[in-house]
Amino acid sequence: MRIAVVGTGYVGLVTGTCFANSGNTVTCLDINADKIARLSRGEIPIYEPGLEEMVERNAAAGRLQFTTDAAAAIRDAEVVFLAVGTPPAADGSADLSALWKVVDSIALFLHQHAVVVTKSTVPVGTCAGIEKRLRERTGRDCRVASNPEFLKEGAAIEDFQKPDRVVVGARTAEVVDVLRNLYMPFLRTENPFLAMSPESAEMTKYVANALLATKISFINEVANLCERMEADIDDVRRGIGHDSRIGFAFLFPGVGYGGSCFPKDVQALAAMAREKGVVPRVLSAVHETNLAQKLVMGEKIDAHFGGNLRGRKIALWGLAFKPRTDDIRDAPAIDLIERLLAGGATVTVFDPEAMGNVRAIYGDRLAYAAGPMDALDAADCLAIVTEWGDFRRPDFQEMGRRMKSRTIFDGRNLYVPSEMRTHGFIYHSIGKIPVQPA
Ligand SMILES: NC(=O)c1ccc[n+]([C@@H]2O[C@H](COP(=O)([O-])OP(=O)(O)OC[C@H]3O[C@@H](n4cnc5c(N)ncnc54)[C@H](O)[C@@H]3O)[C@@H](O)[C@H]2O)c1
Repeated sequence: MRIAVVGTGYVGLVTGTCFANSGNTVTCLDINADKIARLSRGEIPIYEPGLEEMVERNAAAGRLQFTTDAAAAIRDAEVVFLAVGTPPAADGSADLSALWKVVDSIALFLHQHAVVVTKSTVPVGTCAGIEKRLRERTGRDCRVASNPEFLKEGAAIEDFQKPDRVVVGARTAEVVDVLRNLYMPFLRTENPFLAMSPESAEMTKYVANALLATKISFINEVANLCERMEADIDDVRRGIGHDSRIGFAFLFPGVGYGGSCFPKDVQALAAMAREKGVVPRVLSAVHETNLAQKLVMGEKIDAHFGGNLRGRKIALWGLAFKPRTDDIRDAPAIDLIERLLAGGATVTVFDPEAMGNVRAIYGDRLAYAAGPMDALDAADCLAIVTEWGDFRRPDFQEMGRRMKSRTIFDGRNLYVPSEMRTHGFIYHSIGKIPVQPA
């Protein structure tokens, strides 16, 4: 099948590459000329495990190409995926300006039987809006479907190729069949292909993210309470997780959720609710709890130093909003960096993949370490924000030797408090009583 993917970011690039890998001919279109030039040279602008090799192989086979030329990408495409960003507007609703620009530009070149598919996360009713706009621009009825994407950055290729389910919202059986055929190679283990209305498909994506965010805010609030109650969140987590009605997934306390999806999608769903006269009480609480949780680590560090960070040297491990990605959009590390710098601290950061993106924002306002241990030299404390595997089994003796003070604020509960006590650390984690050296 000949496919065009519009928007070559985390979702579009993975989508295009995986469809090329299953034998389709894919053209990825983007307005960012620099990105397209780099991709055409075989350079991958984002970090996503396994992606580089897959792009290279499919590009070499002639199944995957990159362009800024809308006419060339769209004219022969049988399916056109829209994967541009849908960032939050000032009121929390989804900003669809990029999407409408794309709809207007593809309308000029769209083949009459082509199916236009939204992969971007878009408010309920957007598919209907695209149908209307394409009808106005082309003078005919165009085929439009919703196919929300559930991949996780850091495991995007695996998720795309082995999806838990594929959701397709379409108005006709023919359109459903086009997408079913396209996804067939990824559904060989009988994972479901769920066909529904575009409105239900659009809603499904927001509800999935909102529920996951709800679990995170819930466990974070409970963790904060555990600290005050002298209970241990990990014991409580185990105590509830074995209940088959509850389970363990997404019930890990931390520094709050970040990334380009949960924060914006919770707010966008709340905005949709308000627009329809429904008060989004749970969604508002989830969002507010998360904003507060992103401040918790900074508050603890502040309190530890008696409210005065001036001249303190703080090491920070983990900048990406989660491991195995370089994505720092809405990352909790950014909130912490802002607070530490505002308080007058010197901050030395390390992340295996996200240093370039952070350097582009902060330049020489931060120090950048070559490795996790290098960040620790003469540090008054270490703050751990992202649970990269690299941080899980460090040499605590070397850490202690390098740091000025053996003090760790662990936002991801990577270590065992009693062991940290033995190693001579002051150790603060989330939802547990802090430990002092033995
Ligand atoms: N990132 C994720 O993990 C994830 C997962 C599921 C769904 N989504 C959704 O997918 C969508 C895309 O997310 P992303 O993270 O890939 O975004 P992104 O910012 O990484 O990529 C968007 C791309 O669209 C391009 N673009 C913008 N306007 C354009 C135009 N007029 N024509 C062509 N290209 C244009 C940008 O240059 C950019 O390369 C969003 O709606 C997001 O909510 C993201």
